[in-house]
Amino acid sequence: MLEENAVVANESVLLEGYAPEDALHREGQRRVLAECIKPASTGKRIRNVFLYGPPGTGKTMLTKWIMSELEKGASRVKTVYVNCWSRSTAYAVLGEILHQAETFVSPRESMLSMTRKFENATRHPEKKFIIALDEVDHLESPEILYDVSRSGAGLICISNNPYALSGVDDRIKSSLQVEGIEFAAYTADQMADIIGQRAKYGLAPNAIARDEIKMVARMCNGDARVGIEMLRKAALIAEAENKRKVSTDHIRKAFNEAKFMRKTKIESRLNDDETEILKIIRSADRINANGIYEQYAKKVASPVTGRAVRKYLQKFAKLGLIKHEGDVRWREYFAV
Ligand SMILES: Nc1ncnc2c1ncn2[C@@H]1O[C@H](COP(=O)(O)OP(=O)(O)OP(=O)(O)O)[C@@H](O)[C@H]1O
Ligand SMILES: [Mg+2]
Repeated sequence: MLEENAVVANESVLLEGYAPEDALHREGQRRVLAECIKPASTGKRIRNVFLYGPPGTGKTMLTKWIMSELEKGASRVKTVYVNCWSRSTAYAVLGEILHQAETFVSPRESMLSMTRKFENATRHPEKKFIIALDEVDHLESPEILYDVSRSGAGLICISNNPYALSGVDDRIKSSLQVEGIEFAAYTADQMADIIGQRAKYGLAPNAIARDEIKMVARMCNGDARVGIEMLRKAALIAEAENKRKVSTDHIRKAFNEAKFMRKTKIESRLNDDETEILKIIRSADRINANGIYEQYAKKVASPVTGRAVRKYLQKFAKLGLIKHEGDVRWREYFAV
């Protein structure tokens, strides 16, 4: 019988919330981002930035890391991080900013009063605000970007979609003036370094060989979240089989599990209406928007409008959950 934890030494290193000491292969992005936001430490206005790139490329990680570094080193800086997926209305975003700025907000505070409180907080002569809006394309209205940038706070916008900000109107665009920073998918070699680093800190010594690390790196398509999760799963499978080393077979098994991970992560964040609509599309071969709406309206007690459903469909397509074919009028949807 092997001793416990023969393969996994420190599982927390392999979990999503873990913040690595140093981000590999992101020196360029780190330098540009640091240059843009550094003026805050001397109370000056920062250059707003827009980080974009596919999933698992270190955008959230680097943003959180750099904000915490800046806040540690400069007492005049207050950083705030908001994920717009879970807070998609201007009201929710402002509420979260104020909460993190330790400003009291009552549950029935009006929008007007929240906006005032926000302006007062950001006008503070001794504190410069830097506000990160992650998954910014999930905002219901881009108006809040205007309010934030006009307040003198610095903005870090983040999205998978490089065009997330190109649809906003010119008034907002010119007040934002963002500097774009691209986060491309990692190459297999870069990924091997990232996986190797996690293996070093998270697994027992020699629990995985270089060739197996490379195999994980090749299989995760430049997405570090998937790669790290695959490493974790493979290590747990090896351990469950009472082995001391992760084999190619363990990795293959982990890959089959990890493949579904992103999808389920996305799905867990859908609301009840969205979940229902997705189910309908999945149970149909191909279906048009009217057909979807008809079935959906029968299933739920208080259906959202047809327009809202069309918005959900666009969102599903963007998230890669469904595809469509045909011209707008004859468009048919199907699950991926
Ligand atoms: N360069 C890197 N070095 C070490 N770990 C990394 C690196 N890039 C990403 N990671 C790790 O991979 C995981 C995903 O990274 P992160 O959450 O920053 O991705 P993201 O670009 O924000 O993805 P998404 O667009 O899906 O939100 C995290 O656990 C992070 O610590
Ligand atoms: Mg992210």
